[in-house]
Amino acid sequence: MSDPAGQLKGHIRVDGLTRGFLGPDAQPVSVIEDLSVEFEPGLLNVVMGQSGCGKSTLAYLLAGYLAPDAGSMTIDRRPITGPGEDRIMVFQETALWPWMSVTNNVIFGPLVRNAISRQEAKVRAEELLERFGLIDFKDKYPGQLSGGMKRRAEIAQALINSPDIMILDEPFRGLDVMTRELLQEYYLKLFEDSRLSTLFITSELEEALFLADRIYVMAEPPDNITSVIEIDLPRPRTIDVTTTTQYLKLKQEAMHHLYAGLEVSA
Ligand SMILES: Nc1ncnc2c1ncn2[C@@H]1O[C@H](COP(=O)(O)OP(=O)(O)OP(=O)(O)O)[C@@H](O)[C@H]1O
Ligand SMILES: [Mg+2]
Repeated sequence: MSDPAGQLKGHIRVDGLTRGFLGPDAQPVSVIEDLSVEFEPGLLNVVMGQSGCGKSTLAYLLAGYLAPDAGSMTIDRRPITGPGEDRIMVFQETALWPWMSVTNNVIFGPLVRNAISRQEAKVRAEELLERFGLIDFKDKYPGQLSGGMKRRAEIAQALINSPDIMILDEPFRGLDVMTRELLQEYYLKLFEDSRLSTLFITSELEEALFLADRIYVMAEPPDNITSVIEIDLPRPRTIDVTTTTQYLKLKQEAMHHLYAGLEVSA
């Protein structure tokens, strides 16, 4: 979405970002190396790459949970120096407290921050639970929910904080295909209604194509982002889009980018 007046929130700029870890033999291993990239606001930006290429490291850096070794990161020109209320992360691992009901889990964040009253928080939580098809489960505990329901509750838990940007790190990984498709549709609907700036991390090409406005293909250093693919499929999207010629053409293009440089040795 073009934003000539700079009105949209959640504009990420990364410049010369570098981060490494000590490898198994105690030697430093570079994971993100001199990465410069921009994620425009109001878009569903997808970062896609193979396991181990550094996707979660990038997410942790942007969330402010990890500090870079070098380089700068800003959101709407504000430097990222630690976690902030403008960004909300959703991980694959559950973030729900097992001893609290679904509603109490959702309202927990704003209540500890004293952001809104319990009554207001409950009203907002119920709106979100309604939207995610969980209203009948509002008084249940996480242990009574399916994997897909937990993921939806977590997204509601993130959204109640009204973030400027959502960063989702493979939130639907490990779920069965049908549950996954359903959750993708929930997230798409949410995004298409709100245009909430999103950075969605995945290793699944189909998920990336179905959701994205732009796919950033990620790889190990020295070039962490090897290509950027514009996914100009019409919105609102439904799963039917995945059978169109336009989708198949984009899939072919994306596969070409993904596998470029990867040689299979005989
Ligand atoms: N805290 C850490 N200490 C040491 N090495 C780490 C640490 N975190 C990540 N790494 C290493 O950095 C590399 C990238 O890891 P990262 O988790 O960012 O990859 P990923 O793309 O998210 O993979 P996946 O798709 O499997 O989640 C891996 O080689 C990993 O072993
Ligand atoms: Mg990861």
